[in-house]
Amino acid sequence: MTVPFLPTLSTFFIVLSAVLVAVGWWLIRQRRIEAHKKTMLAAGVSALLFFIIYLSRTVFIGNTSFGGPDSLKIYYTVFLVFHIFLATVGAVFGLVSIWTGLKEVLPRHRKIGPVTSIIWFFTAITGVAVYLLLYVFYKGGETTSVFRAILGY
Ligand code: HEM
Repeated sequence: MTVPFLPTLSTFFIVLSAVLVAVGWWLIRQRRIEAHKKTMLAAGVSALLFFIIYLSRTVFIGNTSFGGPDSLKIYYTVFLVFHIFLATVGAVFGLVSIWTGLKEVLPRHRKIGPVTSIIWFFTAITGVAVYLLLYVFYKGGETTSVFRAILGY
């Protein structure tokens, strides 16, 4: 079985980011503030790497359509939209969590931190599910890029 390199790499970074958030949460429960900060910033970098890879692939290579049976397409699409929704909300909450953490707005940080972490866990789990559905369980459909679509080459 062969899987495409860039989607595999970007999915790896989402999973790594979620694992780092889990470790960061565990660290703060041990009151290890500096280690918590470093681990959460590393989780942010990992999420950013995911986003950069995903975005460059979308622009330069394209998005791949679902290659499974037509009867499953609607469920896949709804699930994909749900995942994108979680990722977007998670990114906004992530930025607010990093901001409140660095600025030491701690009462708010303590409230939003666990919510961000849980949203991020679900983002990673649904992201892996999308990856499996798109490239592993079924063979990916057509890939079309914004550039190719516009320039027609
Ligand atoms: C990068 C900068 C960050 C700094 C400097 C920072 C700092 C802190 C500090 C000092 C606390 C302890 C608050 C207290 O109990 O007084 C804390 C708690 C916490 N932070 Fe962060 N944090 C950062 C990023 C994040 C991020 C990005 C997340 C989530 C993805 C997060 C999740 C949490 C959680 C879950 C708690 C424990 C809340 C509780 O149960 O009381 N932190 N953080």
